Amino acid sequence: MQKEVESFIKTGISGFDNLIDRGIPQGSSVLVEGGPGSGKTIFCLTLARHMCEQGKKVLYMSFEEPEYRLRNHLETFGTDVEKFEKKKLLFVKRFNALDIARSVEALLSEAKKELLIDVQPVLIPQDLQPDIVLIDSLSSISSAFSGEESRFRIYMEQLFRYLESHNITSFLIRETANPTHVGHSFVEKGEAVSFLSDGIIVLYNVFHKDGNRRRALEILKMRGTEIDRKIVECDILKKKGIIIYPNKVLRGDYILT
Ligand SMILES: Nc1ncnc2c1ncn2[C@@H]1O[C@H](COP(=O)(O)OP(=O)(O)OP(=O)(O)O)[C@@H](O)[C@H]1O
Ligand SMILES: [Mg+2]
Repeated sequence: MQKEVESFIKTGISGFDNLIDRGIPQGSSVLVEGGPGSGKTIFCLTLARHMCEQGKKVLYMSFEEPEYRLRNHLETFGTDVEKFEKKKLLFVKRFNALDIARSVEALLSEAKKELLIDVQPVLIPQDLQPDIVLIDSLSSISSAFSGEESRFRIYMEQLFRYLESHNITSFLIRETANPTHVGHSFVEKGEAVSFLSDGIIVLYNVFHKDGNRRRALEILKMRGTEIDRKIVECDILKKKGIIIYPNKVLRGDYILT
């Protein structure tokens, strides 16, 4: 049997790739987690730009901010949106999470409660064959399934399966109320996605005891490659987007929020 050769993606985000040995395995599903305003959207927009620059086809699916706002953010952070859209490398689309929940509902009743449904028509526009999909955010999709957690879980399983079988590398934003990986026990709606995912990147709003807030990032897991296990400072800059300081390990008296 022929052995599959794994290829790895370098994000191009300043400083980020220094934290990962080989890169992000192509076809991975990576969660981008963090509290409100921690930089999840800007992380993904910065990534979108670098992926387009590498000639990859990117679909940014927004369930929160309207398309024009995301385009504006992209421009602010130095992306020539029009150029990439003309080259058919960048697609920024807004979706309605309630529509998705309703379609899944309809598919499930049609399938007579079978667990196998085809999420493609509910998710990725038919004519697009993206290399990278960014979903902003799973939390918005999850809330549209309110009270129907098992449906959300089925949808997620099918979604991950779909992305994997099409070798699409995905980044899925998930808003977390508290830092979830610093020793707290944690049970939250949609938790199932943590073990479905191949990687987890966490963004923190750090509160320092001197009264300052700073930003930080950690790669918590990345299947198939070695990672630097540390929490490092990062920043959001005009014309650049997010940048990571791989050598600035968080020090002093601080609280992760
Ligand atoms: N042009 C800019 N220059 C510097 N910092 C900016 C700029 N635009 C936004 N920011 C900072 O980025 C933060 C927002 O980041 P982002 O929208 O990525 O957060 P988020 O984690 O997606 O939040 P939410 O959970 O609300 O969606 C803002 O709070 C702001 O401080
Ligand atoms: Mg956001």
